[in-house]
Amino acid sequence: MKALVFHKPKDVRLESVPDPKIEHVRDAIIRVTSTSICGSDLHIYNGYFPQARPLILGHEFMGIVEEVGPRVTNLKKGDRVVVPFPVACGECWFCRQDLPIHCERSNPKHYGPDGSMTRKGGGLFGYTDLYGSYQGGQAEYVRVPFADYGPRKVPQGMPDEKALFLSDIIPTGWAAINWCGLEGGETVAVFGCGPVGLMALKSARARGAGRVIGVDILDYRLKKAVEVAQAAVINADKTDAVEAIRQMTTGRGADACVDAVGMEAEHDILESASNVVKAQVGTMRVLASAMKAARRSGTVSVVGVYGTDFDNFPLGQLFDKGLRLRAGQAPVHAHIDGLLDMVAQGSLRADDIVTHRLPLEEGPRAYKIFNEKREGCVKVMLKP
Ligand SMILES: NC(=O)c1ccc[n+]([C@@H]2O[C@H](COP(=O)([O-])OP(=O)(O)OC[C@H]3O[C@@H](n4cnc5c(N)ncnc54)[C@H](O)[C@@H]3O)[C@@H](O)[C@H]2O)c1
Ligand SMILES: [Zn+2]
Ligand SMILES: [Zn+2]
Repeated sequence: MKALVFHKPKDVRLESVPDPKIEHVRDAIIRVTSTSICGSDLHIYNGYFPQARPLILGHEFMGIVEEVGPRVTNLKKGDRVVVPFPVACGECWFCRQDLPIHCERSNPKHYGPDGSMTRKGGGLFGYTDLYGSYQGGQAEYVRVPFADYGPRKVPQGMPDEKALFLSDIIPTGWAAINWCGLEGGETVAVFGCGPVGLMALKSARARGAGRVIGVDILDYRLKKAVEVAQAAVINADKTDAVEAIRQMTTGRGADACVDAVGMEAEHDILESASNVVKAQVGTMRVLASAMKAARRSGTVSVVGVYGTDFDNFPLGQLFDKGLRLRAGQAPVHAHIDGLLDMVAQGSLRADDIVTHRLPLEEGPRAYKIFNEKREGCVKVMLKP
């Protein structure tokens, strides 16, 4: 089959690789009909998350069941499914607490209680050896472990464009806002107007926020935030975003701030140099802004990915302001069914952020334009 294989930073190739096979009684093989590239894939693409050997990328995918193992009785050949990006067993202690992102069985080599550089959470599709070495879904076929637990059947008549994003960005944007605990009428500022930030803005509206503010450094992304989420917008490259948010909130700050950027925010050479000494990767400058821009006793919700600890974390500010901080990979399984209903009813959508629909063959170019934020690229859908 054909697949997008990561070799080294900035080197993703379309290659012919062996078809996946059922390896375990709870596996299914899915023929991928649609897949997409996520901001999280860029952390591997840009070398922020190391991956030493070739790996098929991709954790946002859907398709048609081709074959199932003997213990997968809820799916059959021909079913159309969308698959959550975390790999989870559905049976361990965390899975039973509705926290399958922390599954104790899906990442046997690198799972651990620490959350350190080498001890991570549960497995993720197409997301390096640190996250379980699973081959990803940017391919014609993919092996889905624990297939009796993760995949959700797509209602008849729902097109791929509507269903695909239930694998990641819809539940991720939703989780970011869920962690904010909105009661209605709040001001929510979202840093980063990429696919995840846009879905957080939409989710905030759907959850009753009084005002949503999108912050980015690229005007075309901000334009999208106005178009699809009717957000007020701030270009952090041209304006002091923290000051602007305070001005919009009688000097107090936003009730909730979401960091939907993560460690790859632009940073200067000085920061990169000091990172070497401090064993840090990237920057926490957006998290720091989000903490500044949140009001006293407000919430900061972090879905942008960070891979290391950071020196100079503003602990004193966190304490004095009494901020509530939530962070992590999104608990997709916990939200996906309710969100599938919302997508079916038309009360939440992600298809309006897709800017590029390309064949899988154009994957290497798609990575380049999504990474470099060129050609107005917001979200790419790839068709194997
Ligand atoms: N927690 C999860 O479960 C989860 C799931 C999916 C993605 N993510 C993470 O969410 C983040 C965003 O993903 P995405 O797909 O939207 O990626 P993206 O790269 O398309 O979006 C990031 C956006 O941040 C903007 N940005 C960069 N520096 C900025 C700054 N200083 N201030 C404001 N904006 C800035 C960029 O211009 C871009 O629009 C990534 O870190 C990704 O790994 C997390
Ligand atoms: Zn993702
Ligand atoms: Zn589990």
